[in-house]
Order: sequence, then C-alpha cells, then structure tokens
Amino acid sequence: METITKLIPFTGEISILEISYLVASVLFILGLKKLSHPATARSGNLWAAAGMTAAILFTILFHKKDGEPIGNIVWIVVALAIGSFIGWYASKKVKMTAMPQMVSIFNGMGGACAALISMMEFPKMQNMLAAEGASHMIGGEGIAILLGLMIGGVSFAGSMIAFGKLDGRIGDIKNPVLRIINLTFLVLLLVALVVILFMKPEAGNNWPIYLFALAALVYGVTFVMPIGGADMPVVISLLNSFTGVAAAMGGFLYSNQAMLTGGILVGSSGTILTILMCNAMNRSLLNVIVGAFGVAGAGGTEAADKTVKEISLSDAAVLLSYSQKVYIVPGYGLAVAQAQHLCHELDNLLSGKGVEVKYAIHPVAGRMPGHMNVLLAEADVPYEKLVEMEDANNEMGNTDVVIVIGANDVVNPAAEDDPGSPIYGMPIIKVLDARNIIVMKRSMAAGYAAIPNNLFYHQKNRMLFGDAKATLQKLVAEIKSL
Ligand code: TAP
Repeated sequence: METITKLIPFTGEISILEISYLVASVLFILGLKKLSHPATARSGNLWAAAGMTAAILFTILFHKKDGEPIGNIVWIVVALAIGSFIGWYASKKVKMTAMPQMVSIFNGMGGACAALISMMEFPKMQNMLAAEGASHMIGGEGIAILLGLMIGGVSFAGSMIAFGKLDGRIGDIKNPVLRIINLTFLVLLLVALVVILFMKPEAGNNWPIYLFALAALVYGVTFVMPIGGADMPVVISLLNSFTGVAAAMGGFLYSNQAMLTGGILVGSSGTILTILMCNAMNRSLLNVIVGAFGVAGAGGTEAADKTVKEISLSDAAVLLSYSQKVYIVPGYGLAVAQAQHLCHELDNLLSGKGVEVKYAIHPVAGRMPGHMNVLLAEADVPYEKLVEMEDANNEMGNTDVVIVIGANDVVNPAAEDDPGSPIYGMPIIKVLDARNIIVMKRSMAAGYAAIPNNLFYHQKNRMLFGDAKATLQKLVAEIKSL
C-alpha cells in the first residue's frame, strides 16, 4: 500500500484534477477506437463526450490559479449552455447530406478557440517578460502561443471557406498565380513567427500579434480557395488535423493533459484519415492541394465506336429474382438521388425470395469518409450486409449479378488496365469478376475524376438509365409483380 501511495502522490485537489484528466484521456482513446466500426460508433461518440464533460467539470471544480479557484463561473456556465444548445440543435436538424458542412463548421470553431487562447495569452506573456526585462520572447511558451495562433487561424478561415464551397456558396478560383502567392504567404508567415519571437517584449505592444492573426486568417482563405469543391472532404480532414495540433499547443501552454491528449488524438487521426483518403484515391496530398484532378478530358480511353447495351426493367427484375447472390455497389449517385430506402426495399424483396444480397463498400465511394455506411445506416440496412472492398472482391467470382447504383470511378477498370489514366493504381470494386453487371445512372456522364468508364461498354454490362430513385421504384414494382 505504501508503495502505491508513493507512486500516486495524493496531494489534494490537484491530484483529483490530474486523475480526471487521465480518465478523460482514456475515454477519448476508447471512444476513438469504438468510432472505427459503425456498430460501436454511437457509443464511441458518447464515451469521448463523457471524457470531455468530465474534463470540463473537474476543471471548473478543482482548477486553481495561485491558490484561488477559477472565477467567472456564471459566464462559463452561460457559454457552455449556449454552445451545448447550438451543438445539440444543429446535430438534430442537419440533413445527412449536409454532414460535411457541419463537420467543417465545428472544426472551424475548434481552430478559432485555439487561436483565441493564443490571442489572450500573448499579451500576458509579453507583459510578464517585459517586467522581467527579457530581451526576446523565445521559449516554449512563445512558440506554443504563436503556433497555436497560426495553425488555429488557418484552420478556422480554411474551414469556413470549405463550408462555403460544400454548401455551394463559394466557387473555385483556379488561378495558378494564387498557388505562388500562397507559397510566398506561407513563407512570410513563418518568417513573421520567428521575427516576433526575437522581438524585445514591451508591455501593451500587441499589434504584432494582431497582424500575425490577420495574416493567418488571410492565408487560411487563400490556401483553400484554389482547391476544387469536390476535394473539400480531404481538405477538411487536413484542417481537422491542424485544429488538433493547435489545441495541443493550448494543452502544452496550460500544462493541461486532457487538452494535450485530445489535441494529439485529433491531430493524428486527422492526419491518418487524410493519408487514407489520398491513398484510396491514388493521389498525393500535394496533388489534392494544387488541384490537378477532375479536369475534364484527363486521361482515360474514350470508347466512341463502342456500343452500350441497355436492360429493360422486366429483364432486370427476372435476372435479379432468379439469382443466388447479388452484390449492390452504392456510389455518390445513390446519395444524390436519396434512394437508400428504396435500395433497402429492393434488398428486402430479393432476400425474401431467397437471394443472398450484400453491399460492396469502397472506402472513397461518395464524397466523404464513410458516406455509404452513413447513408445505408440511415435506411436501416444491417451492418453485417456491408462488406469492405477487399472481402467483396474475393466474393465477386461467385456473384450472379452486381448492381452498381450511382457509382462510377470506384468501379472503373481503367484503374487496373490503363497506365495513362489519372486513377491508375486506385483500388476498385472488381465488378467485372461477377457474371452479370447492371449499372444504374442517368447518362454516360463521367464521375468525380472526370474520366470515361469502359465498364459501361463491356459485354457483361447492361445499363439501366434514369435517376436512381425513380429506377429503383420501378424495379421494385416490377419485382413485386413477378
Ligand atoms: P462518382 O465517380 O463521382 O460517380 C457518381 C455517378 O453517379 C456519376 O457518374 C453520375 O452519373 C451518377 N449519378 C449522379 N446523380 C445520380 C442520380 N440522381 N441517379 C443515378 N445516378 C446518379 O462516384 P463514386 O463512384 O462514388 O466515386 C467517388 C469519387 O469521389 C471517387 O473518384 C473518389 O476519389 C472521389 N472522392 C471521394 C471522397 C470520399 S472521402 N468519399 C472525397 C473526395 C473525392 P450520371 O450523371 O450519368 O447520373
């Protein structure tokens, strides 16, 4: 027992606070782990939220500065109440398709908080150093404050632009000159950071930090402006990792372990997600940032002289009803058409006839991470029916029919057989291994990568043209009438 007390020195309230931060950090980590599977994601969110609630409550109750408890309790409680209400209301009201916009606003708020902390702490640090007669501001605290302000400011402004683009309020400015301006701006921002650190502290002289904050905001805007609207999910994930790093700077500044762990977790998971998205799209982060993708006519073999076979609704209904195994490949078009409920109805109908129905989920199908999982979960499709790309590909050989609903790039064989294609090397759902393919889309138009898809001309494939919702409605009616 004595050894244990030595290992955990209980010195009153500070220890309780530290233990609460440890518990909060463990809850963040467990919550994050649970977020990696749709079945446990909801509880993961609650675990992490419980960790954050504990960290906030224990800080209010037990944090002491110079032996005094924290003040402004009424302001803190009012701010918490307003923030919680807005967060709760926004999450209740948001449409599933507007989720990326909400994530980008919430992320921006995190960046703004980190930047505001730095704005508050810089004058205090400067006054203290001036009183001590210091000749510069170099030191861990100064670096944490300036980095927190720079990264948080960029993340806030960038996230707001990303929100505007996703919501269709802001267009792209694809001027190559902007990229050169951006790079110059970034270098200047870093130089300014070093210059401020070398400045002699002068009490009340806060203009350098205000100018620095303004520059970070302007850079956030110009950084995101040239990036294509469809690349925003990758950008948001990148900005999310920035916000995490900025929050970690705050944790470092206040020696607050919960803030530090939370920031590091957000920073690292955001970075991993960004890398995974880029890998799944077979693009480098630089390629996303300079926006060389999605240019019409880029790569891909045109198939002008090839013919496209169509399938009638009645033939499709018969083919599906008398199959043993059917795979559905959902894509962005399913989300656009909001046809997830009908898709599940088709699945139920076929399953009722003894057909084995599963969904092949490509990691970047749609326009945000987990887009198809969220969409199908909204229609109550059981998680067990959602099969990850690699496992689904292993089963394609014994699949009778694959129905591709509003997907294009994620099933484009150019990724495997056309070295000149911009998506060459990107892993795809190998629908060509199945016995029959039906593609549901409105036209022969290209998808996000703006390249043609030779799958549509393949002898195994037949097109079922039309809006996914309308087509599924008719197909369901046709199967019912068999
Ligand atoms: P896409 O390749 O974008 O193709 C979607 C297809 O859906 C289009 O060709 C379109 O053809 C069709 N469509 C649109 N509205 C429809 C409707 N109402 N009914 C039926 N069809 C409709 O989608 P995908 O296969 O899901 O691939 C995703 C792409 O987005 C990949 O290139 C990926 O790299 C990229 N991306 C993904 C993410 C994430 S994280 N998921 C992030 C950024 C970029 P019609 O116009 O002919 O109907």
